[in-house]
Amino acid sequence: MLTFRRALVIAAAVLTFFFLLRSHHSPPRLTNASQLPHPEPFKSTLTKAAPADAKTDVAPVKESAPRRSEELQVQLAAKKPRPQISLEDLKAKPLRQQLEYQFPYDVEGKFPAYIWQTWKYTPASGEFGDKFREPEASWSILHPTFVHEVVTDSVAVHLLRHLYASVPEVLDAYNALPLPVMKADFFRYLILLARGGIYTDIDTQALKSATEWVPADVPRSSYGMVIGIEADPDRQDWAQWYSRRIQFCQWTIQSKPGHPVLRDIVANITEETLKRKAEGRLSKDHKNIVEFTGPALWTDLVFKFFNDPDYFDLSTNKANITWEHFTGMTAPKKVGDVIVLPITSFSPGVRQMGAGEDDDPMAFVKHRFEGTWKPEHLRHIGEND
Ligand SMILES: *[C@@H]1O[C@H](CO)[C@@H](O)[C@H](O)[C@H]1NC(C)=O
Ligand SMILES: *[C@@H]1O[C@H](CO)[C@@H](O)[C@H](O)[C@H]1NC(C)=O
Ligand SMILES: *[C@@H]1O[C@H](CO)[C@@H](O)[C@H](O)[C@H]1NC(C)=O
Repeated sequence: MLTFRRALVIAAAVLTFFFLLRSHHSPPRLTNASQLPHPEPFKSTLTKAAPADAKTDVAPVKESAPRRSEELQVQLAAKKPRPQISLEDLKAKPLRQQLEYQFPYDVEGKFPAYIWQTWKYTPASGEFGDKFREPEASWSILHPTFVHEVVTDSVAVHLLRHLYASVPEVLDAYNALPLPVMKADFFRYLILLARGGIYTDIDTQALKSATEWVPADVPRSSYGMVIGIEADPDRQDWAQWYSRRIQFCQWTIQSKPGHPVLRDIVANITEETLKRKAEGRLSKDHKNIVEFTGPALWTDLVFKFFNDPDYFDLSTNKANITWEHFTGMTAPKKVGDVIVLPITSFSPGVRQMGAGEDDDPMAFVKHRFEGTWKPEHLRHIGEND
């Protein structure tokens, strides 16, 4: 029951949180809903089936012609109606169901105009770090109508306490994570699940506005997540360098709130963390972060989603969606409600794995790899040790 007193307490908590954010970040930037980007000119046209035997060889990007995204052979299954359940019943439900109830997903909804970043300091602080100023500013400059927040660790705690008050296990797991890098990984999934928008690492530079990331011929009501490729090492010894043959990056992700992949990864990290904690195995081992909270787990759960019959009608698929569908791609692909951008988009200028340069028309976000906190994500071919 939402009593008047509880309503007051919640209102106070929300105001406190906004005060905390605002006081760290000035000047406050607009939100006029009618000016938010991403108009929705099309009504729901969920993915149509692509021709059988979807191929990955893609047309080269021509600057003069509008870019088209390819569509893999995956159809969204019909949406299930959301049952009404009381708060008491909800607490007894499995974690994924609780999260689904708290953060419903609507593919036809808008991409919220948020840009979320995390760092030890806000840009208002003298200690923010000069090397991050230009990259941080690039996001504001290219997204003038977005709310752009750099959330510090102490603000993150308050924010998550507010957003996840009704799912305390998630907060327990967040608090139990022994390293800031793990918390930073977890935070991006948590904020996108609850609020949506763009999460991007503090050492990334925006090269193009997010409104240009996906070709205009793809209705925005037909997808709810945009991801990029971190690694596509086409060589025998790839496993020496990367955890997965195709690795999706999680330094930049755009999503509508409640996306099933985010729900799954939040549940997975929560359960895994609490299990390890109970068994006394929650270690500070850096090597396993990639698998525990980082890009390897992210990649696995994206593929798990692509092959999940709960979400997609896979009856006509001849084979599972694997790395082979994404290797060597140079144009965006749409898989169900997820847009996968080619390696050039979020990894331009790495001079390997087929990535184009920073001035490539498909280059959207430059990752400068200067976040001092996650060296284990930096295993790049050529940077031999
Ligand atoms: C929001 O923008 C619309 C269109 O630009 C304008 O008509 C409206 O007055 C604005 N509302 C506010 C509260 O600024
Ligand atoms: C989390 O996902 C990984 C990768 O799919 C899996 O190996 C692991 O068992 C999952 N953990 C939990 C607690 O579900
Ligand atoms: C897809 O993968 C699942 C799990 O590994 C397997 O059971 C299934 O047979 C595969 N489907 C096809 C069409 O290969």
